[in-house]
Amino acid sequence: MYTEKINAGANLNNNHQNNQNSRLKILIIDADHKYSQRLSGYLQSLAVEVETSPDLPPTKHADQWLKDTILIVSNQPGEANIIGQLQLLKSAGRNLTVIMLTSSLSANHYLTYLQAGLIDHICSRHNLASVFSAVRAEISCRQLKRENEIYFKNLTRLKLDHSRHIRKSLELEEIYDTTVENLMTALDLRDVETFGHSQTVTKYCQVLARLLGITQATRLDNIRKGSLLHDIGKIAIPDSILKKPGQLTSDEWEKIKLHPTLGFGLVKEMKMLAEVGHIILYHHEKFDGSGYPRGLKGQEIPPESRIFALADALDAITSHRPYRAERDFCTAKEEIIKNAGSHFDPQVVEAFCSVDIEKWERIRYETTRLIPSFEEYQPLLKNKKSAQGS
Ligand SMILES: [Fe+2]
Ligand SMILES: [Fe+2]
Repeated sequence: MYTEKINAGANLNNNHQNNQNSRLKILIIDADHKYSQRLSGYLQSLAVEVETSPDLPPTKHADQWLKDTILIVSNQPGEANIIGQLQLLKSAGRNLTVIMLTSSLSANHYLTYLQAGLIDHICSRHNLASVFSAVRAEISCRQLKRENEIYFKNLTRLKLDHSRHIRKSLELEEIYDTTVENLMTALDLRDVETFGHSQTVTKYCQVLARLLGITQATRLDNIRKGSLLHDIGKIAIPDSILKKPGQLTSDEWEKIKLHPTLGFGLVKEMKMLAEVGHIILYHHEKFDGSGYPRGLKGQEIPPESRIFALADALDAITSHRPYRAERDFCTAKEEIIKNAGSHFDPQVVEAFCSVDIEKWERIRYETTRLIPSFEEYQPLLKNKKSAQGS
């Protein structure tokens, strides 16, 4: 088959456009060589490689030969033969577009082939402007398709990256959570009298927060972390003070009172605990302003810390201490009601009283049932010490 290459990317003003169309080829099939030349010249500004040939190419190797091609078919004798051949080319050529130029033959026939998908555009042979516009529309359509493919490829990659990041941050959050819980368990184990205290107050706080209308998952999670970590500052208080069985001197008491500020200092630089610091810092503030470290009053104290103050006291009253026995939940309730407005926010007290005392008892049982009781733990501790001594 005779083909003539007219303008293999000739005189391109727009390199970008050239790159975009570098794979695309236009093949003009017309028996009239002069017409082919004229049409080629007309299409030159589209910056695509144009070839001409008097005959349709053979179907053999059409899959390679007509790959990414716009085939302009014009002035071919024998309509039926052309259609049969086009059918074969269309099924063999990859990414092949057929533009049919009609002259004397009936446009109605070509319309049928157009509807059947055999040809993609029909133009008048003599109207070069309409041929130009069909080729340009085809080029734009291919560019759009290509951009779309790239867009979807990038989107899929972004989606993958995104889910990888989510998975990583979930893993990190899990590690953080475990670290927080382990830290508090370590602190609880250090101080046998407050064994399980953090877990219990955390659960109390969650119940109270929901009763007071706090439902946002992140806020509830911050309350959980803040409650677990509330006494983390005690890590910096020496055992001789923290575990002193007798009365504390005023100096020792002043040191103990530093633990909210020390705890706040520990967590404030940790990104995932940024919203938790205030619960730790203000967990010993009292509603009437008589608490520490700042002596804040009423609404000046963050709601989370006001909730926490009641939960902390409830667990302290109902827990064993070396200097006093534990008291029951009814006594704790009376004590809390008595201190509404002084130690505790009256609204938090109201929320606490709206729940049956058995529910608070059940929470305490659930959070401490796997932990040995104080009486059970003492012999374990003695055995461990004697084993270490021997
Ligand atoms: Fe504390
Ligand atoms: Fe506490």
